[in-house]
This record gives sequence, C-alpha cells and structure tokens, in this order.
Amino acid sequence: MTTTTVISTEQQVCQGVNCDKAATLQCPTCLKLQFPNSFFCSQGCFKDNWATHKAIHKIAALVNGPPAEEGGSDPWPGFKFTGSIRPHYPLSPRRLVPDHIARPDYAETGVPLSEYSVQRSNAIEALSPEDIDKMRVVCQLAREVLDIGLAAIRVGVTTDEIDRIVHEATIERGAYPSSLNYNGFKKSCCTSVNEVICHGVPDQRKLKDGDIVNLDVSIYKDGFHADLDDTVPVGNVDETGLRLIKTTRECLDKAIAMVKPGTLYRDIGNVIEKHATSQGFSVVKSFLAHGVHRHFHCTPNFPHYGRNKAVGVMKEGHVFTIEPMINEGTWKDVMWPDDWTAVTQDGKRSAQFEETMVVTKTGVEILTARRG
Ligand code: MF3
Ligand code: CO
Repeated sequence: MTTTTVISTEQQVCQGVNCDKAATLQCPTCLKLQFPNSFFCSQGCFKDNWATHKAIHKIAALVNGPPAEEGGSDPWPGFKFTGSIRPHYPLSPRRLVPDHIARPDYAETGVPLSEYSVQRSNAIEALSPEDIDKMRVVCQLAREVLDIGLAAIRVGVTTDEIDRIVHEATIERGAYPSSLNYNGFKKSCCTSVNEVICHGVPDQRKLKDGDIVNLDVSIYKDGFHADLDDTVPVGNVDETGLRLIKTTRECLDKAIAMVKPGTLYRDIGNVIEKHATSQGFSVVKSFLAHGVHRHFHCTPNFPHYGRNKAVGVMKEGHVFTIEPMINEGTWKDVMWPDDWTAVTQDGKRSAQFEETMVVTKTGVEILTARRG
C-alpha cells in the first residue's frame, strides 16, 4: 500500500466504513485506474479500510483495463490493451532519404510489387558468389547500424530518438532503411518494448528502467536487403526478463547450428521450441523466418515453432533470416489497431533475436554476425 495523494479541491466524502468526514486524499491506485470518488479523510482511515478497499482495484482493472502509461494516448476507443504499453503520439514527421541513395520499389508507393510477383512460387533462389559478396557487405553495414542504435538505448531516451539515430547511420552508409514505407510502415526501424512482440513503431515513449527492448534494423544497398535484431535490457531488469533474453538468443544459436545443405526448413522450429519450453517460455506462431536478398521478404518462409509443415530443403546459396520471438507467457498475439504493433495476448514480455545467414557448402555463414 502506498501513501495517498492530495488531488481534490471539491467536496468529497470519506469512503471509510462509518466515516462521513470531508475527504481530500485519493487512493493512488484508484487514481491510476481512473476509478472515481475513492477519497479518504486521512491516511489512518485509508489504512484502516485498506483490506476491503483494495478489492475495488481488481474490479476497476477489469472494467477499465490496465492503467494507461503516463503520457500515453488512447487513440482507439474500445480497444482493450493487453499490457501497460501505450502508443505515444504524435509520430515524428517522415524522415527523408537523400536522392542519391537507391530505393526499393515500395519507397514511394508503399507497395512492394516485386515481392508480390515472386510470392506465388515456392522456389528458393540460390545466390551466386557475386550476389553473396554483396549480401556480405550490406549485412555488415546493417550490423554496424544496429550496434549504433543499441548503444543509444538507455533510460529516458524515446524510441523515436533511436529511430532517428538508426535512420541517420543508415543513410550515412549510402543505404535505404528497408522498413521505411514498407507496406506503409512509417519509421526506419522497429522498436518493440516489453509485451510488444515485433513491429513496434518508434514514437515519443521514453524507455524506462526495467524495460526490455528489441531493436530491428533492416537496410537496402546495391540491390540487396539485410535484416537483423537484438533484444537488450534497459537499466535494471528482473531475473526472469534477463533469462527470457538469454534463452531467446540461445534459441537462435541452436537453430543456426542446424543450418547446412540437406536440413529441412521445417525442422528448425523443433529445436527452438524444445529450448524455449525447457525454460517455461513459449514460441510465437504468427511471424515467420524468411528469405531476404533482392526482396525484403521472400521464400523460404518457415515457422519458429515445432511440428510445422514448412516446405523446402536447405541448399548452398540460400539466404534467409531466423528470428525467433519467445514469450514469457502465452504464445498468442494480438494486433493493435495501428495494424503493425503485435503484442502478447496476456501482456507478458516477449524477446527476439534475428540474423541473416547464407547456407555454405558445409554449413552456414552468419552474414550479419558482429566481426572482429
Ligand atoms: N525487420 C522485420 C523482419 O524481421 C520486418 C519489419 S517490416 C516493417 O522481418 F515494415 F515493420 F518494418
Ligand atoms: Co526479418
């Protein structure tokens, strides 16, 4: 129980049983939950009535949903948020990309037409050694950009500021930030905090002590896309949060260790799910690993969960991501009405790691790995 707060100048009557004194102290929990008229005449009366009063909090939380974060907005009347993260609008104005930087086909229209044209086929392209050289270059630049973005993450920084830093680091390297206007996405990276599984849109929310945040960077240069992400703690994160992050990285590493010619794409999910569940965590089902090279998203597409029916066998020259999203609670996701932000259905946290890789003659090369 915390102390009460003075907020009312109007006449209120104390909620204490058998007390009808004038009251100016409001229960801080009711205040957060936007539950009205819970005033008390004194700290003592509040304490005496605590055992019965606190039952109201459960009911108020059920009726009103969890408390909105300070400074957050509620632009979607009737939408039930699953956790405590809220959008913090307005988004900053669209960031510009200088004319000399080559753009993917969707940069102006938002529509990735060339991706649609290859989506009907199940064929997986094997890249030539020359193309793989180009992938190596863009993937290493993307790792640099991600590391610059990660270095800016600390308590009090807005996710929009992270987006600005990522955007500038990307264009400084002569690259286009692949997410910008991809199917209408408004920013140059994704920032997914706590219960946000993926595709969080950078906004005016300040990172808080105890948050976990995934930064997802994708860039396009010389005709090729690179895609990677990491999850990091902000300030002091509890033991479960740190274990969630560590387990997610281990899931990715165990999956990558299976990559070699002849491995079935559908088997990747089995090792990820086995490790995640051994730690009491679950695997997100709605978002898949994907091919990435001339297109931002192409074949192969395969789930991170076990016993799936993905088609295809790995062959030398195949280039794709693996990007498991691992949840503290349920695997189920809910989409915000912005049609991008995916959150956990139970409001518990989610972590993700992603690398872009190429199948080699004998195994795998992690193109986005931090080198040197
Ligand atoms: N980078 C994400 C992925 O891993 C895709 C982001 S699409 C965006 O596949 F439009 F949301 F940026
Ligand atoms: Co990806």
